[in-house]
Amino acid sequence: MRLWIPGSGGVLGTLLQALCQQQGICFVPTTRADIDVTDISSVFRFAQDQKVTHIINCAAYTAVDLAEKEKEKAFAVNALGPENLGKVSATLGLGFVHLSTNFIFDGQKEAAYEEADEARPLSVYGESKWEGEKRVLEQNPHACVLRTSWVFGKEAKNFVSSILETLKKETVVRAADDQVGRVTYGKDLAEAALSLLSKNGVYHFANLGSLSRFQIACGIKEEAEKRGIPLAVQEIIPVSAKEFSMPAKRPQNGVLSTQKIEKLMEIRSWKNALTEYLDEI
Ligand SMILES: NC(=O)c1ccc[n+]([C@@H]2O[C@H](COP(=O)([O-])OP(=O)(O)OC[C@H]3O[C@@H](n4cnc5c(N)ncnc54)[C@H](OP(=O)(O)O)[C@@H]3O)[C@@H](O)[C@H]2O)c1
Repeated sequence: MRLWIPGSGGVLGTLLQALCQQQGICFVPTTRADIDVTDISSVFRFAQDQKVTHIINCAAYTAVDLAEKEKEKAFAVNALGPENLGKVSATLGLGFVHLSTNFIFDGQKEAAYEEADEARPLSVYGESKWEGEKRVLEQNPHACVLRTSWVFGKEAKNFVSSILETLKKETVVRAADDQVGRVTYGKDLAEAALSLLSKNGVYHFANLGSLSRFQIACGIKEEAEKRGIPLAVQEIIPVSAKEFSMPAKRPQNGVLSTQKIEKLMEIRSWKNALTEYLDEI
């Protein structure tokens, strides 16, 4: 296998490179400066020249709030980019996993979202990612779309590290208790992405357990205290997400069902993943 990782400098790209190194997988990482995924001719030339056999697309426009003002940019990277990679993977017969998000859903469902549930994005970012999914599978029906949520990992700044930093600095921390989702340990996600390289269709992956940001903050506090990590926080207050008034709407219920992928692999609990993360940082 010769795996191409476009967007290798981002959160998932960094984690995936670390995993490939550990597992002795031959990989070629590229950042935006090396190959811009919106440029079909450089995407095609690179895949051919480098004799790539598989692609895991980690390149994305992920500035969820800024996307509300930068629709064109978001669609270029999140829709045209995946379309190009889909086209090239189909033409050259490459295994292709494309990453997507729970933000393609509107969060109104009461239960966890299944792969076949109707997409109804609330934000420009969500719309651009949904468009990207459709274009990937139109171009290459053998490709795989892997949706995930709330990714964290030690190789990069992420929302768990941001919460931990806040708990270290602030005595009172307010965290939303009316939006739920599932956290995803980047290392586990990277393993899932690798194991889907021979599959096709849509899969969801996240660690087990549905949580609000308030519950996540409480979990991080509890585990940090056990490890003697010095924290300033005295109190974590559950509040409505409305208090934070972000430009882009987020789904109230962002919980992804992972029953489909659980037929292929075991998934550990969020607490187990968080414990490993805190032991490693
Ligand atoms: N992190 C999460 O919580 C989360 C949750 C759900 C889904 N996802 C999905 O997981 C995937 C990876 O996310 P991530 O968190 O790793 O994102 P990230 O940290 O923002 O990384 C994205 C990478 O893509 C690069 N990129 C942007 N435009 C590009 C272009 N035109 N050509 C090539 N590379 C380009 C960026 O480079 P620059 O920095 O130079 O722009 C950056 O290194 C995305 O598809 C995302 O939608 C992530």
